[in-house]
Amino acid sequence: MIISSPTDYREAARRRLPPFLFHYIDGGANAEHTLKHNVSDLSEIALRQRVLKNVESLSLTTELFGRTLAMPVALAPVGLTGMYARRGEVQAARAATARGIPLTLSTVSVCPIEEVQKASAAPIWFQLYVLKDRGFMKNALERAMAAGITTLVFTVDMPTPGSRYRDAHSGMSGPNAAFRRMLQAVLHPQWAFDVGLMGRPHDLGNISAYRGQPTKLEDYIGWLANNFDPSISWKDLEWIRDFWKGPMIIKGILDAEDARDAVRFGADGIVVSNHGGRQLDGVRSTARALPEIADAVKGEMKILADSGIRSGLDVVRMLALGADAVMLGRAFIYALAAGGEAGVANLLDLVAKEMRVAMTLTGARSIGEIDRNMLAL
Ligand SMILES: Cc1cc2nc3c(=O)[nH]c(=O)nc-3n(C[C@H](O)[C@H](O)[C@H](O)COP(=O)(O)O)c2cc1C
Repeated sequence: MIISSPTDYREAARRRLPPFLFHYIDGGANAEHTLKHNVSDLSEIALRQRVLKNVESLSLTTELFGRTLAMPVALAPVGLTGMYARRGEVQAARAATARGIPLTLSTVSVCPIEEVQKASAAPIWFQLYVLKDRGFMKNALERAMAAGITTLVFTVDMPTPGSRYRDAHSGMSGPNAAFRRMLQAVLHPQWAFDVGLMGRPHDLGNISAYRGQPTKLEDYIGWLANNFDPSISWKDLEWIRDFWKGPMIIKGILDAEDARDAVRFGADGIVVSNHGGRQLDGVRSTARALPEIADAVKGEMKILADSGIRSGLDVVRMLALGADAVMLGRAFIYALAAGGEAGVANLLDLVAKEMRVAMTLTGARSIGEIDRNMLAL
């Protein structure tokens, strides 16, 4: 299949992956309205075309949490990444490092923290969920610090998992799930060999390391359902703030009041996110929520945004709406599933190329020059 744009990777991933994995990535909560609006609202953001601005020397670099990034982009934490490509977290981290940006490793990754950080020439970011088992949380933070990770992404929009109905239909969960998954794997021999056979062990690396026994894919859904903690409040986060020495980013903010609370809490940044439409269907798209959050807290901490970004043009749109940087979720996962490390590296090149074109045609020479003035209202 010919890949000429960042969005080509979705179809390439669909062909390669067993359906239970493709739909796990591609799907959202309930009727998937928020998932759709994340993409459509963002794509409707119009930019001002500007001319004769001398944009010959153009730079995508940005400063974020004490590091210069090649562009204002990070790879989002995505659970089970090692099921979409062989040792997927390692491949994604290598591609991200080569392109001068960080990968955020999910709590529920297949590859454990140490394996991914060891393979990566620069520090990755680590994402932690609020879990009932505080012992696990402390252990994960200690291991991340010991591995040399300094940036923590703390995800707060999953006190309980959303209702993802596609998973039951696809065989990810539901009746005869294990049998259906095996059948699908047999019908996708490339994936079965590359990931199913060569990508083992298939467990939740960080959790297995803590429990001292493998946590298999079969246990994943149950583990998620039983371990998220709906009793959590800002107060419970204080020990983490004190324990973690580096920058702490709160991921999953969609409301200006919560963004102000994050400033009061002492966060170094937030990710404006609805978890890619996978949690509460019917909440606003991030493109719609971001401007008022930026009005409330811009300049007091870094604002990252995700959900619905599928291209370099979308990155520029999010920056114009008020983000300092963005996270790519499905966009990079589709590329990883389709082409591994090379796929992610190529995706990032395509994203950078689109950003350059968009900046040239809007007259922005640097990331700092992308602001609301660029929006055509
Ligand atoms: C398959 C999948 C798994 C995810 N797992 C996690 C996770 O483990 N931790 C987390 O904070 N967010 C997780 N997310 C949410 C992403 O970090 C990100 O917020 C979301 O994908 C952004 O939306 P987009 O995919 O439309 O860009 C996951 C998203 C997907 C698609």
